Amino acid sequence: MIRSRLLKSVRLHLTLWYTAAMVVVLALYASAVFAFVRSSVSSGLDARLRSEFQWPSEMLDKLPDGSIAPYDEVDNSSSPWLQVYSLDGALLYQTMLARLTPVPQGEALAAKADGQIVSIPDATPPVRVLSGQSRIGDQPVVIQVARSEGPMYQELTDLLLVLLLGLPLGVIAAGLGGFVLARRALAPVDRMAEHARLITAERLQDRLPVHNPDDELGRLATVFNDTLTRLESSFERMRRFTLDASHELRTPLTAIRTVGEVGLRGRRDEIAYREIIGSMLEEADRLSQLVDRLLTLSRADSPQSNLSADNVDLCELVRDVAAQLGVLAEEKQQTLTIELGAAPRWTGDELVLRQAVLNLVDNAIKYTPAGGHITVSLTETSAGVNIDVSDNGPGIPAELQSLIFDRFYRVDESRTSRNGTGLGLSIAKWAVEVNGGQLTLEKTNGVGSTFRITLPQESLAPSPVASFQ
Ligand SMILES: Nc1ncnc2c1ncn2[C@@H]1O[C@H](COP(=O)(O)OP(=O)(O)OP(=O)(O)O)[C@@H](O)[C@H]1O
Ligand SMILES: [Mg+2]
Repeated sequence: MIRSRLLKSVRLHLTLWYTAAMVVVLALYASAVFAFVRSSVSSGLDARLRSEFQWPSEMLDKLPDGSIAPYDEVDNSSSPWLQVYSLDGALLYQTMLARLTPVPQGEALAAKADGQIVSIPDATPPVRVLSGQSRIGDQPVVIQVARSEGPMYQELTDLLLVLLLGLPLGVIAAGLGGFVLARRALAPVDRMAEHARLITAERLQDRLPVHNPDDELGRLATVFNDTLTRLESSFERMRRFTLDASHELRTPLTAIRTVGEVGLRGRRDEIAYREIIGSMLEEADRLSQLVDRLLTLSRADSPQSNLSADNVDLCELVRDVAAQLGVLAEEKQQTLTIELGAAPRWTGDELVLRQAVLNLVDNAIKYTPAGGHITVSLTETSAGVNIDVSDNGPGIPAELQSLIFDRFYRVDESRTSRNGTGLGLSIAKWAVEVNGGQLTLEKTNGVGSTFRITLPQESLAPSPVASFQ
């Protein structure tokens, strides 16, 4: 397990890449050194041959009988490899070394005497020969000098050996160094992983330490911490929603249960049973209404809620809502008025927007006492379109205004009526915002409230009449 983790680790990969790069660099360097030394040793050998070519003109003398001999003081045993030929090819003089170690093709090269340095690899050891024309005294001659290439090859072999032995040592040292470096560089990542492993759903408030927010690891830790913050808040929202939802679901269920239990106690007549069943159905209705709203909200929470882009006549939408809820207003002897100060068309999801207007008008009817007035008005401004729902009900206390859009929040005294789930406004807010608009509580005091839906100018579609002009 540990071995397979090590094999897959970035540290090992880094080390291998580093070592491979080192092998290439060292091999190139060694080849360059070898090529340089080889060329400089070889040209050194050539230079020595050329200087030895000058040797006879200074050390040899032409005797009166026409033969060639060294000056007396020259020590023949320490003389270089040298032969002197006459122009017609007769050997006039050779040093002791030349006599002892003849060079293959020596005579042929002397006959050519082109001043070129020639390598003769079949000789043992291989030799380099320079043959060219010169003069001793007043006599034109052919001088041939030679040098063994043995010491040069020996030197190059030694160098090759040193390089070949040094290369693996260098690679091993580089590999070890690379491994240590990679370990040091990646140690903070290990520490971060260790720390992140300790962060569980129960410890979401924990964060990774950020030592330097500007380096790569610091940026990674910051991004990770931001993700944790978002995760934590969505966990918290989910937890609160589940708690609230289960609490709200329990209320109608308990009511159904209690009514049922009471009904079963003792015998009753048909009218009493009808009443009991009626109130149980009422609670069941409330329950299904609550479940519907929860479903709407869970749709609101899912990012891929598919909205349609309908071309909506807002006047018709307002009229529809008023017609739908007019019955409820009538029941409470309220007047429900609509004021259409504009006739804009709008592009967005009609069903979702209708839900928002319905919830606002429903609230206005519900919380305004019998005989009250409710107005739904449509006005166009430079910023867009406003749909205002106003009533002359009790209004909302200033300190609670920021809470009424929260899920399950209900102002206390209305809560006692048990006629509502506390989800209407949060659904309306979502419905408006998801369509690009805004829902605000415009005005509220002792004599009523006004809720305003603002739809932005960009979402207004040109009216069919306008498009013909
Ligand atoms: N027009 C209004 N006048 C006075 N109070 C209001 C008005 N509209 C909303 N409220 C207050 O805001 C609270 C939240 O409203 P919301 O519509 O979210 O829930 P609800 O009406 O209680 O339940 P639901 O609409 O889910 O059946 C209400 O309980 C009520 O106290
Ligand atoms: Mg409501």
